[in-house]
Amino acid sequence: MEKLDKVTELLNHYIDKNVAFFTSRSYEKNISSIIDPYIPNYAKKRIFYYNNIPSNFEIKDLQNGLLFFKKNNIDIIFTVGGGSVIDFGKLVNFFGNNNISINDWIHNVNKKVVTKNTNSLIAIPTTFGSGSEATKFAVLYDGIKKYSIEHDFILPHISIIDEVFSKTLSNFQAAVSAIDAMCQSIESIWAVGANDESISYASEALSLISPNIVEYVNCDRKNSDKIALGSYLAGKAINISKTTASHALSYAITKLYNIPHGQAVSITIANLMKYNFQNNNHELLNISIDKINNRMAILLDSIKEKTIKDGIKKIKSIIFETGMTVDISKFDINKISQNVNIERLGNNPVKILRLDDIFIES
Ligand SMILES: [Fe+2]
Repeated sequence: MEKLDKVTELLNHYIDKNVAFFTSRSYEKNISSIIDPYIPNYAKKRIFYYNNIPSNFEIKDLQNGLLFFKKNNIDIIFTVGGGSVIDFGKLVNFFGNNNISINDWIHNVNKKVVTKNTNSLIAIPTTFGSGSEATKFAVLYDGIKKYSIEHDFILPHISIIDEVFSKTLSNFQAAVSAIDAMCQSIESIWAVGANDESISYASEALSLISPNIVEYVNCDRKNSDKIALGSYLAGKAINISKTTASHALSYAITKLYNIPHGQAVSITIANLMKYNFQNNNHELLNISIDKINNRMAILLDSIKEKTIKDGIKKIKSIIFETGMTVDISKFDINKISQNVNIERLGNNPVKILRLDDIFIES
């Protein structure tokens, strides 16, 4: 696992290159004082900063980033921040080095021309939850329309995971991010697309996150190294397996009710656990019953519980203790179902015919 010393080492290595730092709005206030001591003085004059990347950025934001990339002849990108900032750096690196139009790509034109994998993208997460530093996909918006751009060359080449940044987060920011990582590891274990490798990353992530997340959020980022590593491993897991129903539903919840991503995902995770593992209708299964039972055993083992009932109780209590509980009594389930991500829903181990089964506790 690389720590911030690696920044100095890399800048020394890329001595004659033009380097960009892609960062968020809070970079100057919170992040620069932590990272600056690792930037040698002589390297500073070759670093170009692109600050103020918004969350859930749109095509026009990305186009501005690409203009900056070209104008300054950027060779190496450091992308430093939360999931959106890292996604932004990933997409600038991908589109900038391959000279593909964003619109062509999202409308499926000219996809074959991607040839350049640059080995020049370094991701430094600062919020510990999205796992974006370990995935080959990135989210891009066109108005309210969401695109997930996916390609092997989008994966960052180096990830620097240093938990020191967790001190810059409020309890709420820490919770929203870490709960996303926890849900990603749970969903990854039961995903249709999972394999032995992704299941091993996901169960390790869950074993690191579940016993530590409550104190991490409420007690001054205690055990932040465990959460930072867990979040990275959860990213590696979903990079293979992808996410499932809780994520499929979360995007609409975020959009309709302005609930942050991790919190929106957590709304359905406990009910979904019950639905996936206590389903009596075998015709609804997307994977075999043996696989479902095996995944359930791995999940329960990762959270150190023996029964599904106790497992659900533990997940609910984590959501409550981290302040993530949401009142869903005013949710319009029909509206949510009209905006659901069908692809991710199909990756759930059990088919979902009625959203009521997931939102309303039986
Ligand atoms: Fe997520």
